[in-house]
Amino acid sequence: MSDVRFAIRPSTNLQGAVKIQGAKNSVLKLMAATLLAEGEHRLENVPNISDVKIMAEILRSMGCVIKFEKDGVLVIKTPPKDEINPFARYELVEKMRASIVVLGPLLGRCGQAEISTPGGDDFGHRPIDYHLDGLSCMGVSFEQKHGYVSGTAKRLQGARITLEFPSHTATDNLLMAAVLADGCTVIENAAREPEIIDLASMLCEMGAKINGAGTSRIEIEGVESLQPADHEVIPDRLDAATFIAAVAIAGGDVFLKGARSTHMETLLRKVRVMGVVAEGEHGGLRVRCDQRLKSLDVATLPYPGVATDYKPLVVTMLSVAAGVSIVTENIFAGRFRYIDELKRLGADISTEGHHVVVRGLLRLSGAPVRAPDVRAGAALVVAGLVADGETEIFAIEHIQRGYEDLPLRLRSLGVDISERSGD
Ligand code: EPU
Repeated sequence: MSDVRFAIRPSTNLQGAVKIQGAKNSVLKLMAATLLAEGEHRLENVPNISDVKIMAEILRSMGCVIKFEKDGVLVIKTPPKDEINPFARYELVEKMRASIVVLGPLLGRCGQAEISTPGGDDFGHRPIDYHLDGLSCMGVSFEQKHGYVSGTAKRLQGARITLEFPSHTATDNLLMAAVLADGCTVIENAAREPEIIDLASMLCEMGAKINGAGTSRIEIEGVESLQPADHEVIPDRLDAATFIAAVAIAGGDVFLKGARSTHMETLLRKVRVMGVVAEGEHGGLRVRCDQRLKSLDVATLPYPGVATDYKPLVVTMLSVAAGVSIVTENIFAGRFRYIDELKRLGADISTEGHHVVVRGLLRLSGAPVRAPDVRAGAALVVAGLVADGETEIFAIEHIQRGYEDLPLRLRSLGVDISERSGD
């Protein structure tokens, strides 16, 4: 665990412009997709975050040569199929459960894969049955033992797969497996996130035939082989939401360079009801707030609903809004750990099953807190803007998994935040 902490003091009236980074939940899948074609792939707008470094380590362990270049460019050289080592070991998968997205491309290209099974995490139980069931429909035989799942197939067969729930990474895996399968695959009840569209775009640039990405029915016509691609990662809607929450809480007028309002329409509708002005402009999104936030009821849902990842930020905003709000979690039963940390900052929050009742206060009260996961950690940073005294955030490595230079970018808008080492 890092001994560096973030120290935040109350800050108001944020001003300026900030660049929104490339999307974590896109780039990790795009990196995995490079396993599908031999040669040199080039990704642009790659955020400098620790999850990208972990995915790079995983790909290296499989035989890819990875080079981080200047200005967010990542070059990945993928070996011929018989030189790929289709094995993801425990020490790497354990660091990042998103590493499960190498399963689909490995099976699609090499016909075999062995991956440490990801355990549960701070959100609770996180099964991978949709991934395995879907791939089994395409002809993969799986065996699970000694904490690893191994799959084999000669060539994957196109299939019609209906997901029980529109799982994001299960859709990623099935999409990447299907592009090299024999025949047509249809994924029904597919996830519809913008990151799925980004992955499908890159796969099409590589020569894949995909229709319907971004809708709940994706059709993939398998091809014999793919070529490497040059692709720019879409902006991160969670990063944008973090800055929206900061402006909502501290007040001010900030331009989010690169943010795409079309990727976050439901959230924007909700924050407008809370009193935030958020307008898509050429090249980004302008966010303004000059009043106390209003309370609101909100429930998390699969995209295009309000994402579960926004929830810690939404609860934080509501903790200082006028009135009582109810926030309902419908995706991850256990995603409540950060509530106790917000309560340490004085927030008036109670939980009942998967509902959170938030009674808005005028201010919070600075305290040492611990980031339980990446989004909750960012929400605690935002809470610090309106917490009297100092808020010191421990376990910031969780935040660094998904955010590039968060303190630096916040400082550029006038936020009083510093990094401090433990000694
Ligand atoms: N589920 C199953 N079986 C499966 C897969 C999922 O029961 O095989 C359930 C989950 O337990 C959950 C629901 O389906 O209740 C949805 O989970 P989903 O599979 O969509 O989540 P994920 O793909 O594992 C991605 C993001 C998460 C984000 C969720 C929900 C990545 C790398 N991760 O996870 O992002 O919270 O979708 O939108 O894309 C983050 O960025 O910090 C993060 C955790």
